[in-house]
Amino acid sequence: MRIRDAEADDWPPIWAFARPIIAAGETYPWPRDTSEAWARAYWMERERPASRLVAETEPGDGCAGVAESGRVAGTVEIHPNLPGQGSHVANAGFMVDPAFRGRGVGRALGEAALDRAVKDGFHAMQFNAVVETNTGAVKLWRSLGFETLATVPEGFRHPELGLVGMHIMYKLLES
Ligand SMILES: CC(C)(COP(=O)(O)OP(=O)(O)OC[C@H]1O[C@@H](n2cnc3c(N)ncnc32)[C@H](O)[C@@H]1OP(=O)(O)O)[C@@H](O)C(=O)NCCC(=O)NCCS
Repeated sequence: MRIRDAEADDWPPIWAFARPIIAAGETYPWPRDTSEAWARAYWMERERPASRLVAETEPGDGCAGVAESGRVAGTVEIHPNLPGQGSHVANAGFMVDPAFRGRGVGRALGEAALDRAVKDGFHAMQFNAVVETNTGAVKLWRSLGFETLATVPEGFRHPELGLVGMHIMYKLLES
C-alpha cells in the first residue's frame, strides 16, 4: 500500500465509498444527504495547512489480490481544528473503503496523518466527534496514542441505536 498526497483525480473513487459512509449516518456527524460538492470542497479543496492523503493499493502488499493495484482504498484529510489561536491543533477525518477494511489501511493512514501533522508544525491532534459505538475506530485511535478527554453524553443521533455518546479524543504530537 502506498500513502501519497491526494490529487483531484482521486475524488471520484473517494466519493464512491464516502457517500455510503456518510449516508449510513453511523460514524460521521454530517447530514446524511451531504452533497458531493460540499464534501469535495471540505475534503479536497481547503488550502494549506490543510492536506489530504490517500492509501493506494500496490502489487505485493496486503491489499493485492482483492483488487487491482492503483485503487484508492482509503483517505484522510487533515486541517486546523479551529481558526486563529486554536489553529495549532489539527483535526482529521478518515474513511476506508469497506472492501479494504481490516487490512491495516486505517492504521497506515492514521500513522501517516500524525506524521504529516508533525511535519506541518501542528502541536496536537484532536478528534471532536468519535461516535462511541464506532468501536473499531475508538480502538484504533487509542492504539495510536489518543486519549478520550471527554464524552459528550447522547451527543450523536445514531439511526439504529438512538442517542449515543461522542468522544473527544486527543494526542499531543512529538516534534
Ligand atoms: C475506522 C476505519 C477508518 C478503520 O479502518 P480499517 O482500515 O478497517 O482499520 P485497520 O484495518 O487499519 O485496523 C486497525 C485497528 O483498528 C481496530 N479495528 C478496525 N476496525 C475494527 C472493527 N470493525 N472491529 C474491531 N476493531 C477494529 C483494530 O484494533 C485494528 O487493530 P490491529 O491493527 O491490531 O488489527 C474504517 O472502519 C472506516 O473508514 N470506518 C467508517 C468511517 C469512520 O468511522 N471513520 C472514523 C471516524 S472517527
